[in-house]
Amino acid sequence: MTHALHFTLNGQPTTLDVAPSAWLMDVLRDGCGLKGTHQGCDTAQCGACTVLVDGLAVKSCNRLGLQTQGRSVTTIEGVAPNDQVLHVMQQCFTRHHALQCGFCTAGFVMRALAMVHEDVPAEEHAVRAALSGNLCRCTGYEGIVKAVCEGLLLLRQPDTAP
Ligand code: FES
Ligand code: FES
Repeated sequence: MTHALHFTLNGQPTTLDVAPSAWLMDVLRDGCGLKGTHQGCDTAQCGACTVLVDGLAVKSCNRLGLQTQGRSVTTIEGVAPNDQVLHVMQQCFTRHHALQCGFCTAGFVMRALAMVHEDVPAEEHAVRAALSGNLCRCTGYEGIVKAVCEGLLLLRQPDTAP
């Protein structure tokens, strides 16, 4: 048996039939074809599956799809202003070489975007603590932390805020 899920997905009103036991990650990847939300640990530890639900960072392997009924979900596919231009935070990741294989990157970017509206200073220690729920096997985190610090500064400026 399925239930109708009505939510806003990357700015678009969306309806689809969802099993009560379906995780949000599977709804996004298999139901909506949004493969940028990655499946890593499947146990809410790695952060590769992070998306925004009403602006808050959520590990989508740990949230039922139907729990987003009536809510607004943003995935990595929904953050850039258009196909030609990356989001400011994505540009910071590029500039600071904050990715290698890229498997973790969407999750880090989504977590970082939630941090813009949290009380996290754009400083190394605070940013490392705020990113502690996201794991990267490749980069050593140095570039990621620099990218997020710069992204927070830029996105909190009124003239660059999206
Ligand atoms: S796949 Fe969700 S936290 Fe790892
Ligand atoms: S860039 Fe490979 S896991 Fe982070």
